[in-house]
Amino acid sequence: MKLVKHIANLGYGSRKQVQGMFREGRITDAEGEVLYADDKVEHAVIRIDGEPLDPPPGLTLMLHKPAGYTCSTKDIGRLIYDLLPDRFRDRDPVLSSVGRLDRDTSGLLLMTDDGQLLHRIVSPRSKLDKVYEAHLAEDLRGDEAARFASGELLLESDDKPLLPAELEVLGPRHARLTLHEGRYHQVRRMFAAVGNHVQTLHRCKVGGLELGDLGEGRWRQLDAGDLATLFGETD
Ligand code: URA
Repeated sequence: MKLVKHIANLGYGSRKQVQGMFREGRITDAEGEVLYADDKVEHAVIRIDGEPLDPPPGLTLMLHKPAGYTCSTKDIGRLIYDLLPDRFRDRDPVLSSVGRLDRDTSGLLLMTDDGQLLHRIVSPRSKLDKVYEAHLAEDLRGDEAARFASGELLLESDDKPLLPAELEVLGPRHARLTLHEGRYHQVRRMFAAVGNHVQTLHRCKVGGLELGDLGEGRWRQLDAGDLATLFGETD
């Protein structure tokens, strides 16, 4: 791919703007030698204003989403893209979230520009569990774990019962829930179905991948090892 298109696709500007950056000598190699638009160089050696380029296509990252941010490219209010470098909104291929978390849910959110990987992650065949922690408005009654594990719980406006899910009680109003599927507002609707109300919801784990020490609002790029962990391919 031509350098101008490659750099424009990373969100640095329109092709015209990137051509202007070449003309101004802002695009160099690692030694500071000015590059020209028709040079043939590897992504890794390119610098813009002395800075390495953003990751090439094939970017996958995890974001510690705070509550209050919407998983959308355009919406009113705060968006998950506000937490990433500005350029990430304008990448081609598009960087999108893998599924969604509700605006009021915090925790682990995956984002990728790799369509095949996205489909693999969300595919039921990959069997990637999702683990949530919920703080509840009411004390747990004691029958919730059995109801959630039954495989018979039918949520309002669904026509199929939920797959069995595991509930671990962490306190009178605090629980961890492991899901093996992903339906719309699933955790909130499950607790509503047993007469409770979710006050705060946090996703701690997807497949084998956990947030670790990634602070709220922070993100990090995932590498092949992280993806192996995600899919449970590590020993
Ligand atoms: N279940 C919910 O209710 N909300 C989320 O954001 C994720 C799972």
